[in-house]
This record gives sequence, C-alpha cells and structure tokens, in this order.
Amino acid sequence: MRKPIIAGNWKLNNTSKEAIELVTLLKRNLSDVSKVDIVVCPVFTVLMDVNDVLANTNIGLGAQNLYWEDNGAFTGEISAPMIKDTGAQYVIIGHSERRQFFGETNETVNKKIKAALKHGLIPIVCVGEVLAERESGKTFDVIKEQCQGCFQGFSEEEMKGMVVAYEPVWAIGTGKTATPQQAQEVHKFIRDLLAKMYTREIADVIRIQYGGSVKADNIKDLMSQADIDGALVGGASLKSDSFVKIVKFYE
Ligand code: PGA
Repeated sequence: MRKPIIAGNWKLNNTSKEAIELVTLLKRNLSDVSKVDIVVCPVFTVLMDVNDVLANTNIGLGAQNLYWEDNGAFTGEISAPMIKDTGAQYVIIGHSERRQFFGETNETVNKKIKAALKHGLIPIVCVGEVLAERESGKTFDVIKEQCQGCFQGFSEEEMKGMVVAYEPVWAIGTGKTATPQQAQEVHKFIRDLLAKMYTREIADVIRIQYGGSVKADNIKDLMSQADIDGALVGGASLKSDSFVKIVKFYE
C-alpha cells in the first residue's frame, strides 16, 4: 500500500509573516492526520521560519528548486546542503514553470535529482505535457521522454524514495483539471515505464501525485484512481481551509 502524499506548492507567494500565519493554522487543523503524508513548499527565504513552526509535527517541509552544485561561484543559486540546513526534507524539481520560464531541461532535472538524493532530500519530480502536445496525441511520447531523461542512472534504493508528480501543464492554474480517467491513464503509463526502466517492485512503491487545479471538490475522485497517490496543489494550498479539506479528502 502506498501512503498518499499531498504537497502544497506555494510558488512565489507569502512573506515570512504570511507563511507563519498559514502554517500555524495548518498545524492546528491537520494534527490528527496520519493517513496522508503532508508537505508544504514555501519560498526559500521563509524555510527556516516555517521549519520552526513545523518542528515535531506531522507536516513536512520542502523547497521549490535547487542548484546541483553544493557551493561555488553560482550567484543567486541555492544548493541541496543549504536547503537541508533549513530543516527541509523535500524539494520540488522540474516544475513546468521552471521548465517554461527558467530553461530547465530533463538533463538539468536529472542533475538536480542527483544533488537532492546525495544530501538526503526527497525529490518531488514533475513531468507533464502542454496543451498542444495533448491535442496532437503526443502525451505519452512527451512523458516517456521526460521520464527517461529525468530518471536515468539511479540505484534501486534511490528510485524507491522518489516522488513523481504528473502535472498536465494545461491544467495548472487554469481551473481545468484532467478527468480522473485522463490522469489515471498517464499515471499508469508512468508506473509501467518505471517498471521497465527499473523493476516492477520499485514502480509499485513509487508515489505518483497528480497536480493541476486540484481542489477540495475534485480530490476525492482523483484519489479513487488506482495509480494516483496524492496531489501537488498550487493555488488551493495558499488558504488553510482549502488545503485542510484537500488533505482530509477521505473524511
Ligand atoms: P495549481 O498548481 O493547483 O494552482 O493548478 C499546481 C502546480 O503548479 O503544482
């Protein structure tokens, strides 16, 4: 049985005061949850403050990106050991906004995953097709290329610790969610592909989240699908009420 993992991707939002207010509410309202792994991913500058609030709770902490070198002349970047130093345990890698606006490729994603694993951070690796690719029937080709590029060269143990997020880019921030069937079809495709690249046993333990306009009113249907093991939530993770409802989808 894979334990569901629901992560909030706050993107470029929340100053320290706002972040502390939000996680204080989450901490209060989610303390009784044990069926789901919960993670919040704020901006770098508030990681330490948020970690102070979340210490010894059931809510994990993640960053939204990292650079693959540990240190050196890379102005403006943040490395895995630095993220680890804030108390975070997770890091989102290869989000479609990073691919679209900041030139990330499957190759850089692969390097970033290696750096994260080297320093004991759990990568949440995003893949997903854009609308034109879906409409021209290329979804599976794109996902295959992304997975083969991003997930090459890891040990079995490393693969088992990975979290994958399938995020159809056309569903992100658009209010247009993939249907549970559309999502399940791609999740199963990813799992079968990972079974071919590694082993069936490994593919069966890897958690694959769905992301793209997840809300309190669609989470249950998405989670009822066999290969959907949680969600990466953007907009709806910025308000405590909606994120709490999503995490408690099983109630
Ligand atoms: P959204 O974002 O929930 O606002 O669509 C999801 C994501 O980008 O991770």
